[in-house]
Amino acid sequence: MKKVAIIGQGYVGLTISAFAAKSYQVIGFDNSQKVVEQLNQGISHIEGVKSADIKAAISAGNYRATADGADITGADIVVIAVPTPLDKDRKPDLTFLESACKTIADNISHSVLVINESTSYPGTIRGVIKPLIEKLSAGKAEHLYAISPERVDPGRVDWDQKNTPRLYAGLTPEASKQTREFYSSFCDNLVEVSSPEVAEAAKLFENTFRQVNIALVNEFAQISHALGISVYETLDAADTKPYGFMKFNPSAGVGGHCIPVDPSYLSHVAAGLGVPATFIERANEVNLEMPKYVVARVMADNGGSLKGKSVQVVGVSYKPNIADTRETPAELVIEELTRVGAVVNWNDDLVGSWKGQSSTPLGGAEIAIVVTLHDGVDKKAVLASAPYVFDTTGKLPGAKGL
Ligand SMILES: NC(=O)c1ccc[n+]([C@@H]2O[C@H](COP(=O)([O-])OP(=O)(O)OC[C@H]3O[C@@H](n4cnc5c(N)ncnc54)[C@H](O)[C@@H]3O)[C@@H](O)[C@H]2O)c1
Repeated sequence: MKKVAIIGQGYVGLTISAFAAKSYQVIGFDNSQKVVEQLNQGISHIEGVKSADIKAAISAGNYRATADGADITGADIVVIAVPTPLDKDRKPDLTFLESACKTIADNISHSVLVINESTSYPGTIRGVIKPLIEKLSAGKAEHLYAISPERVDPGRVDWDQKNTPRLYAGLTPEASKQTREFYSSFCDNLVEVSSPEVAEAAKLFENTFRQVNIALVNEFAQISHALGISVYETLDAADTKPYGFMKFNPSAGVGGHCIPVDPSYLSHVAAGLGVPATFIERANEVNLEMPKYVVARVMADNGGSLKGKSVQVVGVSYKPNIADTRETPAELVIEELTRVGAVVNWNDDLVGSWKGQSSTPLGGAEIAIVVTLHDGVDKKAVLASAPYVFDTTGKLPGAKGL
């Protein structure tokens, strides 16, 4: 059985590990000792990956987590699935990717297939990963390189690794062939594109498309309010057109590891080429300003000031039915509420604890602002939780809203 090392055991890496462990011997390398210990006890920390599947893979001898880079020695394939965030200036931060390259260079001295699944700008596999591994390993081995961007949507059950079409491209025909072989063990629909740059750019454009459309609908929500019409009714009306329209919903902003981040990778590469990415930049601004707009609306409805008023933010994960709080707009809503002098707590039993604080029981505040509404939350209870409820989700008829 071939051996696959998967670097990074988070949302992407662990999901891939669970699927690949059905046909390959998987070594899950992560530099978090805590994650590794949990995984080796058969406990999944990722929604969508069942602990039972990790336990079964361990029992079959097909999965082991490790924080020791030496354990990836002997792998036939290495998949990179590490974070690619933005730095403090909202520019691509490739330090995790660079550290993954070092792990490969230090521990692999024979020729392997290196596949990058981390989202990054076009040219990353050819111009960053390959030269860095070659430099750090001082030419110990000539590897094959490929890209296959990840499309996992945490919390989603209808589209998964098996039925979601997967893009891929190798730097050489042999790299493409081996990449196809690997993914065809668990994915039904593989789509080869002509170059890694096309695959890398397609991934960024998919999320930029969403970012720009979300910003557009968020701006439209503000226009609708000023016009005195319902944004939801107007969107439903537009959505009766059977072609040429796709409905996006307004919200308190965008969150997660992809939509607020990936478009900035595209604008970064565009800037380097001298092409202004004005839509992307403006969409970012509109989405980042939404929390302030929400607080301004709540303030206007409550006598023009929230100073000293108790406010509960309901739902702090970045989207419904998952506990992930990365880049959540709830954080900016809380920051803005605090800035204007409100006394803020939050309720989200799915998240439980966040930034060193625990979820506060629903109710007890003068004002509730719903940022995320999980399916399991009792809507009537939320509506009754405060004398004034502002809903940013459009799912609470009877509440004030966008
Ligand atoms: N989460 C998603 O929905 C999603 C979807 C598509 C693409 N992506 C992309 O996939 C990549 C990974 O994202 P994620 O959501 O899995 O991140 P994550 O934060 O859930 O997991 C990353 C894991 O990598 C580990 N790690 C960090 N640096 C490491 C290193 N040098 N060596 C070994 N382990 C390391 C961390 O400890 C963590 O466990 C990112 O580029 C992201 O943009 C994510």
